[in-house]
Amino acid sequence: MFEKIRRRLLLSYLIVLSLILGGFAIAVRIVFTHSLYKQQTQKLAALAQVGAANAEFDNGKLRIENDFPQDKMFKNYQELNWFDTKGNLIAKQGRDILKLPTHVKEGEQINPVGKNRIQSVTLAIINSDDKQFIGYVIASQSLEEFDETLNKLDLGLGGGIVVALIISGAGGVWLTRQAMQPIEESFERLKQFTADASHELRSPLMAIKSNAGVALKYREGMRETDAEKFQAISSATNQMTRLTEDLLFLARHDNIPNHIKETVNLSSILNNLVQLYQPQAVAKKIHLKSQFNEKLYLLGDLNQITRLFSNLIQNAIYYTPSKGIIEIIANLSVSHLVVNVQDTGVGIAPGDLENIFERFWRADKSRSYNSGGSGLGLAIAQAIAENHGGLITATSQLGIGSCFTVRLPVGSLN
Ligand SMILES: Nc1ncnc2c1ncn2[C@@H]1O[C@H](COP(=O)(O)OP(=O)(O)OP(=O)(O)O)[C@@H](O)[C@H]1O
Ligand SMILES: [Mg+2]
Repeated sequence: MFEKIRRRLLLSYLIVLSLILGGFAIAVRIVFTHSLYKQQTQKLAALAQVGAANAEFDNGKLRIENDFPQDKMFKNYQELNWFDTKGNLIAKQGRDILKLPTHVKEGEQINPVGKNRIQSVTLAIINSDDKQFIGYVIASQSLEEFDETLNKLDLGLGGGIVVALIISGAGGVWLTRQAMQPIEESFERLKQFTADASHELRSPLMAIKSNAGVALKYREGMRETDAEKFQAISSATNQMTRLTEDLLFLARHDNIPNHIKETVNLSSILNNLVQLYQPQAVAKKIHLKSQFNEKLYLLGDLNQITRLFSNLIQNAIYYTPSKGIIEIIANLSVSHLVVNVQDTGVGIAPGDLENIFERFWRADKSRSYNSGGSGLGLAIAQAIAENHGGLITATSQLGIGSCFTVRLPVGSLN
């Protein structure tokens, strides 16, 4: 039980941590991309301005004056293109691999070219003498390097997150163990107290029961009302004895060590239980039938397995009205025995299904005293299934019936 809570705690911790780290990584990526891009755009705009400053209008034609630092352009995958007012290419400098689209549009833009993306800044060239518009200059640059830098950043951030999660996971295991320790200890103490209290209650209960029994045995001369009182004492004592036995069972039974397990014949257990409960079923006019082959074996505790199915069959008989049908079907499925106890009884409301295995939970609280049930039957059945490494589940429809499915591992039978 605690293992499950510990795992859930660790998982929630890792989910929260990965969300925080993921959010942090996304924020870092956005800020970094934005500032790197801004920096690059500024450099490109500066280059375009230099390009515009070096263009002049001579005899109605656009002419480029100086050379540009070609080396630097090559290194940065940059290119400069000058266009006249009609968008015809006049001159170009820098790297030639950037096949720019021929249309000219002022401002900053990004265009996909092949596998790469090209960032470009377009400026209008204004003649310094007469302030006339004489053409355009486009400074462009491949974003290959930029994308590579981002890929490296992604790799770094992703790798960092994975490493951080692995380290935190290891730390988390230790932390959850530390956090759960006091809870486990107090649970153990509570369990011990329940076991001790139930155990100590046995003797006084036995004393009350036997005294009431003796009194009822010699009822001659006793007033009828007194006899009824003794009867009530005896029946209440029976109920309390059962309750203390159930509590003691729940407090004391944990996983059964493998060396204590024996080969259990499940078919024979089910057969015996069907025979045992047949008179009760007949008395209620319920058809109790079974369907399984004779060779179903598993490794486990005979008494516990008997108790598990007896609790389920008792419930089925109790919660099925007369003329109903109860069917017990058992099969071997690979390494598990699957037993279904299904009835055509009152059923369980969908909202209640998740509660039925809780201790002391009963759908109809008012029936508690009359039926003698305490609401521990299914909790015990579940504890036994889990003790054997198995599972018990239920499906039900109100007014139609319920089906309890028990899956028990066969274990390594020789
Ligand atoms: N076959 C069933 N059909 C309908 N309701 C069921 C069935 N089995 C269990 N329940 C519901 O689940 C509740 C819990 O069952 P559980 O066996 O734990 O307790 P109980 O039968 O009330 O008492 P106890 O078994 O301790 O005598 C029951 O009170 C009942 O409301
Ligand atoms: Mg029950």
